[in-house]
Amino acid sequence: MANFAPPPGTADIFEPEAGIWRAVEKAAADVFSRYGYGELRTPVFEYTEVFQKGLGNETEVVQKEMYTFEDRGGRSLTLRPEGTAGVMRALSNTDVMNGVEQRVYYHGPMFRGERPAAGRRRQFHQIGVENVGRCAALIDAECIAMLCAFLKEIGISDFRLDINTRGVAADRAPAEAVLREYFGKHLDSMCPDCRTRYERNIWRILDCKQPECGKIVAEAPDYVASFSEESRNYFAEVCAALDALEVPYNVNPRLVRGLDYYVHTVFELSHSALGAQTAIAGGGRYELFLPGEKRAVPGVGFAAGVERLLMVREALGIAAPESKKAAAYLVGLGSAARIANLQLADKLRAAGVPVELELEERSFKAQLRGANRSGASIAVIRGDSELEKKILVVKDMTDGTQTEIDETQIFNYITQKENNK
Ligand code: HAM
Repeated sequence: MANFAPPPGTADIFEPEAGIWRAVEKAAADVFSRYGYGELRTPVFEYTEVFQKGLGNETEVVQKEMYTFEDRGGRSLTLRPEGTAGVMRALSNTDVMNGVEQRVYYHGPMFRGERPAAGRRRQFHQIGVENVGRCAALIDAECIAMLCAFLKEIGISDFRLDINTRGVAADRAPAEAVLREYFGKHLDSMCPDCRTRYERNIWRILDCKQPECGKIVAEAPDYVASFSEESRNYFAEVCAALDALEVPYNVNPRLVRGLDYYVHTVFELSHSALGAQTAIAGGGRYELFLPGEKRAVPGVGFAAGVERLLMVREALGIAAPESKKAAAYLVGLGSAARIANLQLADKLRAAGVPVELELEERSFKAQLRGANRSGASIAVIRGDSELEKKILVVKDMTDGTQTEIDETQIFNYITQKENNK
């Protein structure tokens, strides 16, 4: 067999795995619609500035990971690295600016030029939601609870939920001053990336994964204490609502998230099956400027990585949903029987019965092998003489017994057989 692999960091998804994807996507739609969310499908590419402005020019994603190209007119386009910015661009055509709440969910491929590894792809898939137009602590808590409900629906429990607050824009300068003073004293013992972060985006030091930085970060001062009372109260209200909803969480001051649009609540979910460093979902509250608007629009949302959800499910031994097997396999001997079988298969399928059949001229033996492979519980056999008598020979594939039936009885015969399974 030729080894024609897809590009690094991408994958082909065959059955029965594709069936798990459908089940996960359906569970998401079911859970989210109970919370009043409707689906939104946006393009997989946008004008590059949608992401530059939305995610922040200093973020790793925008600086290093975007797939950007020019369209024929010379405009810069980018394959979406995440869903929020495009959703906000789409919602700018609605009345979110007037405080009308929009609840939308989405799923589909996202693209980041990262180094591929287990659970890290260049084309990966997110299932996400955005609740846009209003800002309230209880909306954040409801959104987090909905993410937990979705995970439970797909069989994932005992995950870990980390939450933190980023405060609002005005809180950043005093908190940054606290961090700058502290990290300034330790720069010599920190990794080269963190030395750059110190200059460009000091917050990112807090989630550095290098051991030498980890120790220093662990002893960093409590910057949240320098946030305004309003921001601290907002966060306390989120925590109290999660308590009321009985959603367990850990307050993690190291959680800052990689995108610049966040304010107030941020959260991330991980599972021991993948290790604490690998997030299966993340999100938070944000403020984003819509194209042409001077005022930012508030929202809260999250995205879960489908590949990572599936890895957790697999590690937990959650069985794939049964794929639908053919109820019958039609065996035809001679060209007239093949045409008659083609017609019969068409009718049965239209009536909702999954059917397989041999459409080429093949020996009886070869066709029975096909029937075996299909997993159908009966083979329906006909040649010229059955055609003439308007009958069918039905072979039970488990015990090998054969029965003759009138061809008009086949639908009832199959449905009875399926019901008795
Ligand atoms: P994010 O944390 O960048 O957030 O991505 C969300 C999830 O997507 C991650 O937790 C992870 O499961 C998955 N993911 C990210 N990158 C990869 C990759 N290279 N390979 C496989 N899975 C990956 C966002 O994208 C935000 N838009 C979430 C959000 C929505 N915030 C507010 N609303």
